[in-house]
Amino acid sequence: MGYSKLQLVKFEPSGITVAVSSGTDLLEAARRAGIPLPSTCNGQRECGECRLIVSAGQVSPLTSEEIEILNEEERNRGVRLACCTRIQSAVTITGY
Ligand code: FES
Repeated sequence: MGYSKLQLVKFEPSGITVAVSSGTDLLEAARRAGIPLPSTCNGQRECGECRLIVSAGQVSPLTSEEIEILNEEERNRGVRLACCTRIQSAVTITGY
């Protein structure tokens, strides 16, 4: 198993914070934090329900599924699908 750096993921407004490995997706991070994000497709990138806003930190670029599911206004506001978004640094999440 390769070395994987731990990153802090903070969910506002509650301030609940979890440490996960770099590369973990935000749906998994929310589950570990005990935050119930709607996710009917269970991370299959189909339902479009697992929306949140990454307000600080670095994450993976938009996926083709997100470009299909999210409209331009949402994308401009920083809305992401949690199951499509992988953590690359410490991040702060709002708007879920
Ligand atoms: S959980 Fe369905 S799109 Fe993310």
